[in-house]
Amino acid sequence: MKLIKTIAEMQQFSKSALRHRQKIGVVPTMGYLHEGHMSLVDMAHKLADVVIVTVFVNPTQFGPNEDLAKYPRDFDHDWSLCEKRGVDAVFAPEPEEMYCPDRSVWVTEEKLSRGLCGQSRPVHFRGVTTVVAKLFNATLPDVAVFGQKDAQQAMVIKRMTRDLNFPVEIVVAPIVREADGLAMSSRNKYLSADERIRALAISAALREADAGIKTAGRKALCGLAESISAKIAAASGRVDYVEALDADNLEPASESTRCLLIAAAAYFGATRLIDNVIINLD
Ligand code: PAJ
Repeated sequence: MKLIKTIAEMQQFSKSALRHRQKIGVVPTMGYLHEGHMSLVDMAHKLADVVIVTVFVNPTQFGPNEDLAKYPRDFDHDWSLCEKRGVDAVFAPEPEEMYCPDRSVWVTEEKLSRGLCGQSRPVHFRGVTTVVAKLFNATLPDVAVFGQKDAQQAMVIKRMTRDLNFPVEIVVAPIVREADGLAMSSRNKYLSADERIRALAISAALREADAGIKTAGRKALCGLAESISAKIAAASGRVDYVEALDADNLEPASESTRCLLIAAAAYFGATRLIDNVIINLD
């Protein structure tokens, strides 16, 4: 497995793979890898000949009062997980390699990124779209795999890819959960034992909502977000948002909605967790 630190070397590696008619798959990450990330690697192996994992804690997607400085890092562990999963190259640039001091170009998505996480994290998606565009230009992938765990992020990236004509297929892989239902996340390590137990309220409430809609159909939608919020609050979670939206466009769910996204974000202690479920209403 190759460790690549510079954009020039990354592009050379990918161009050589492309010359050998190999299909390139990329899995962009911020490191501190877990089985959720590795499921994306497994998916990339199914879709491509050469798999690249990018490990870069992207400063531009963190707001001034967010957890950039203390975002968890363990490169040795990331390296060994990637090695075990047959990754071909890990691209791990330093921030100075990715961002020129006098940079003045951003990539922004102006519709899907407004609500949900974009509301409480105003600069977040501008940082995500900018870095993902740069990572695409560095790794030159045919296919890029993202997780449904960050459902809004995946939609924003799909939109960016379409609207800017990146020649990249975007694939979204299902959420990987701990045995008790908690969605895997690098941020779970911030949770105290007590918060870890109380945080299960999010996935439990989403699971109940899913079951409710499967039995009662659309009429279970009435008051659904409020009831999920109440369950999270009852476990002393501080709800950021719970919303039931059309999964195709992130508009509020309506009669014409065929696929529903129920997305939730809540703080347990100082840790902000997100989770979601997508439900086919047909
Ligand atoms: P990060 O939070 O490290 O996540 C990297 C990828 O792993 C994302 O596509 C995310 O949705 C996916 N992922 C995380 N937890 C998952 C889980 N439990 N199940 C399935 N997939 C999961 O998302 C980012 O990094 C960054 O914003 C990035 C896209 C790399 C840009 O900096």
